[in-house]
Amino acid sequence: MKKILVTGGLGFIGSHTVVELQNSGFDVVIIDDLSNTTIDVLANITDITGKKPDFHKIDLRIKADVKQFFDNNKVDGIIHFAAFKAVGESVEKPLEYYENNIGSLVYLLQEMRDRKLDNFIFSSSCTVYGQADELPITENAPVKQAESTYGNTKQIGEEIIKESCNAYELKAIALRYFNPIGAHDSIKIGELPLGIPQNLIPFVTQTAAGIREQLSVFGDDYPTPDGTAIRDYIHVVDLAKAHIAALKRLLENKNKQNFEFFNVGTGTGSSVLEVINAFKKATGKSLNYKIVGRRAGDITAAYADTTIANKELNWKTEKTLEEALLSAWKWQEKQ
Ligand code: UD1
Repeated sequence: MKKILVTGGLGFIGSHTVVELQNSGFDVVIIDDLSNTTIDVLANITDITGKKPDFHKIDLRIKADVKQFFDNNKVDGIIHFAAFKAVGESVEKPLEYYENNIGSLVYLLQEMRDRKLDNFIFSSSCTVYGQADELPITENAPVKQAESTYGNTKQIGEEIIKESCNAYELKAIALRYFNPIGAHDSIKIGELPLGIPQNLIPFVTQTAAGIREQLSVFGDDYPTPDGTAIRDYIHVVDLAKAHIAALKRLLENKNKQNFEFFNVGTGTGSSVLEVINAFKKATGKSLNYKIVGRRAGDITAAYADTTIANKELNWKTEKTLEEALLSAWKWQEKQ
């Protein structure tokens, strides 16, 4: 059985990916420092799959601890989620973001190089495209100057991996996520935002639950059909499955280059108002919302052209926006 290390495996996307890995017959070892999740997630994963993943509480910024982990564990592949991800905070704390998001990445790659380990999957983001000139966004769209430190850590991360693949003959795939939402069908795992949610869907579900009084829709003067900004919201389970597909591509040596990157989205863009309507359709809940000004740094529209990912990864999304929103709501109700 192949053993896969999942860093950040108790986080939102990480936990869903661990479940899909176990369901696909992989042995999983998780590293997480619990900085943005809780240990309960481990038991909840075990509840879903019937198999407790091996777990190590390690802070990947501590090089000696990373080294010690690899002294004691041999793995066939690594899926690296562990990173900070708050856009606004990243601009206020750039050094913390570079230390965590870049430092940890370098340490992992060094251990891979030194021990001749291979097969690395990296969590990247569609934020690398900025406001693309053409929609939908293909992998051929240029990477634009990052708008935030967070975005820059993803761009720099991809470059570090690409150069390492060339120098040390490693194989890696970066998955450029669009907007992951929703929760596992079992409603045992989902997104756990700390404090006031910055992302749209947790804010929507908390407003529907009465935790937040009102949803602010950031801008209705964008050049889109209803004036609100458009994103590509992908069910987190579909996103998790893309990691299994990418991992298998590397394990089976089906990759065409040492370093590849793919867009992971649904291919469909939805405006903020369309999300509010879809939420009502899915759950029967009307949201209290008001239109306010644009949020600084937001782009007008981003949605994926998934042609290349569908073909090369032999993967496609299966769940609808309404299914994703319903699962997010059930998860909220459970909290
Ligand atoms: C954000 C990040 C992106 C990151 C992603 C991770 C920014 C500028 N971008 O994407 O880099 O990879 O999260 O999940 O922060 N909205 C509202 N009201 C709200 C919250 C959001 O109207 O209370 C709108 C936003 O203006 C946007 C859409 O909903 O149009 C989605 O917002 P969000 O969930 O924060 O995701 P992104 O901004 O696309």
